[in-house]
Amino acid sequence: MTTFTIKDTVGNIVVKHPSLGRILEDAGIDYCCGGKKPLQQACQEKSLDPEALLAKLQQALLDANDSQQEDPAKMSLIQLADHIVYQHHGYLKNELPRLDAITDRVASVHGGHDPRLVQVREAFIPLHQELMHHMNKEEQVLFPRIREIDTADSPPDLHCGSLALPIHQMEHEHEDAGSALETIRELTDEYMPPSWACNTYRVMLDSLSQLEQDLHWHVHKENNILFPRALERENELSQKSNGSCHGAGGTVPSLKYHYTR
Ligand SMILES: [Fe+2]
Ligand SMILES: [Fe+2]
Repeated sequence: MTTFTIKDTVGNIVVKHPSLGRILEDAGIDYCCGGKKPLQQACQEKSLDPEALLAKLQQALLDANDSQQEDPAKMSLIQLADHIVYQHHGYLKNELPRLDAITDRVASVHGGHDPRLVQVREAFIPLHQELMHHMNKEEQVLFPRIREIDTADSPPDLHCGSLALPIHQMEHEHEDAGSALETIRELTDEYMPPSWACNTYRVMLDSLSQLEQDLHWHVHKENNILFPRALERENELSQKSNGSCHGAGGTVPSLKYHYTR
């Protein structure tokens, strides 16, 4: 893992690890026009402790390594739902507003030079809104039902309907988000900065690339692990019901309300 010292310039730190740009932004440090300043000087000008900020940057790199080592297949449904909300929804809730500001800034400043940056901005706006809405539906409706059936020892309350409908809707929305990111990837030449790109432009590309990577992991955990296992568990519990409920094809006003587009 790369290590830094307080003598490294903030510009170089972001060049080596663009994901650290968000920590410098949170600290109010300008790594774009002020990129030539060593971390120590940039911190002193903001009355910050350079060693404390350096430790935070190093910890972020360690956390990034750790987060790649978990095994979602070994988690219970409850653990996996909690993990997705904490790890991926948490990330998106911080990252989408941040990228909203950055894509707006880059399109405003450089859109005249490359109109594709305006198209990136136009693709990002609905993606942002739809992902926020999507996460809200998962957190308020679908995931609570999934947590419920994980520990249930009696047949599920199927008068509320099968999980199949909301899961199908979520999978459809995952495809929409993937398409929007594919468009952004094409518009940015696969997140490749041109030679004239400033640090903010480069950070935008790196952040969009990370957004895509994180979304791939996020969707993989939902589509390929959480959802099939939840349906399997629902089916197992339904077998125990001996037809005492409406069955998996029953209608659920609350779920239909939430998931019909
Ligand atoms: Fe999600
Ligand atoms: Fe999702």
